Amino acid sequence: MKPSSSAQRDHPCLYPCGRPLLEFPLPVRLIVLGATGSIGTQTLDLVKRNPDKFQVVAVSCRSRVPDLVRLLEDLASVCPDHDPPLVAVTDPEAHAAAAALPGIGKRLLAAGPAGLVEAVTGAPGAHCLVNGLVGAIGLEPTLAAAERGLRIALANKESLVVGGDLVAEAVVAGGAEILPVDSEHSAIAQCLSGRTEEEIGCLILTASGGPFRETSAADLARVTLEQILNHPTWKMGPKITVDSATLMNKGLEVIEAHHLFGVPYDRIEVVVHPGSIVHSLVEFVDGALLAQLGTPDMRIPLQYAICGEKHWPLEMGRLDLLKTGPLLFEAPDPVRFPCLRLAREAGAAGGAAPIVLNAANEVAVTALLDGRIRFGDIPHIIEDSLAADAPGEVNDLATALAVDNQARRTATGHIDRRSSSGE
Ligand SMILES: NC(=O)c1ccc[n+]([C@@H]2O[C@H](COP(=O)([O-])OP(=O)(O)OC[C@H]3O[C@@H](n4cnc5c(N)ncnc54)[C@H](OP(=O)(O)O)[C@@H]3O)[C@@H](O)[C@H]2O)c1
Repeated sequence: MKPSSSAQRDHPCLYPCGRPLLEFPLPVRLIVLGATGSIGTQTLDLVKRNPDKFQVVAVSCRSRVPDLVRLLEDLASVCPDHDPPLVAVTDPEAHAAAAALPGIGKRLLAAGPAGLVEAVTGAPGAHCLVNGLVGAIGLEPTLAAAERGLRIALANKESLVVGGDLVAEAVVAGGAEILPVDSEHSAIAQCLSGRTEEEIGCLILTASGGPFRETSAADLARVTLEQILNHPTWKMGPKITVDSATLMNKGLEVIEAHHLFGVPYDRIEVVVHPGSIVHSLVEFVDGALLAQLGTPDMRIPLQYAICGEKHWPLEMGRLDLLKTGPLLFEAPDPVRFPCLRLAREAGAAGGAAPIVLNAANEVAVTALLDGRIRFGDIPHIIEDSLAADAPGEVNDLATALAVDNQARRTATGHIDRRSSSGE
């Protein structure tokens, strides 16, 4: 794949490496998008543990309104004066049902993606967006938060995969800051504390290897959805769990790291590290390596991001080094897990390629979860979509969304043809 000129641009370090962070009075006022998901519920857990430090001012879900109502009631039982004034529900049917609920109706925003943007732009006195949405739908709220000058605690890596350059421009223009939530990028941010960009040699992202680290290529063709969703170390939403099994998650994280830390792709490495104890490493230009270790619990990187990169107290299981056993590192297998290579190539090509990669992957993962394709079909669908749609520059949001839409149609066509031919 030929690199587009945008891939060769100098990438600024989007992460505020060595720069002062935004300061907010307590409680930090949070917009929690994707509140019913894995990241969202863990954020709400942190709020309940620290009602004097965090307050929720807007929430969203797609369709699980009963879950959202339960979460809000639960939050109100611990922090009665914290009732979030704004609620976004994107799915039109669920939105109509939510409008009829006495507790929700009066604070309900528009349906569809517009409601997510409204939550970001309209939440009163907001300081921080926790973007726990899954997929490219997260890009527009990230841009809105950047334009509003908020702290963005970014779990939604797809925002940077699809619109890294656009987000970078909006962050500078709006005076916002992006603090990573992904445990790998949080680890890198912690290793970079007090350092400058010039000191970075390379970034080393660790990958658990997923449930199929030791599965042969022949057996991979027969894996079931239950096995795919059985991640060995992390409990997460279904999309990222599938991405972890294909190693696409690591590929998306390589692109995310490139945008966040301004490091070229040839200086971002991936090592498989089963157990997920070492969350990632930075090698500095003098050869010194720093790593961040801890139990695999997303509340640690989440709290580190939303409080503005401080190590505040957190009551949970501690890592017992005497019980962790040997720390194993191995190279990822490019033959059994081609998605990592596809993501690297798309990231390095830049322009439309990472958008197509992401859209095709989202469509393929949904088809897998619906039982329409097999595990091994995912990289083929992505590769075919990249071959059909990838070239092209992307310099604005409208183009990015158009490329995303077209790629979804192409990938859906590939899946339909596979289903009808019984491939
Ligand atoms: N989970 C983790 O431990 C983890 C770790 C690192 C990074 N991340 C990243 O964090 C993001 C969220 O992951 P997750 O595991 O928390 O996902 P999840 O459990 O599936 O939750 C996704 C949330 O987003 C909402 N949502 C899904 N599709 C939507 C759409 N089209 N429009 C509006 N809202 C939508 C869901 O609402 P409903 O509940 O109503 O469907 C839910 O609230 C992903 O980008 C992932 O890669 C997650």
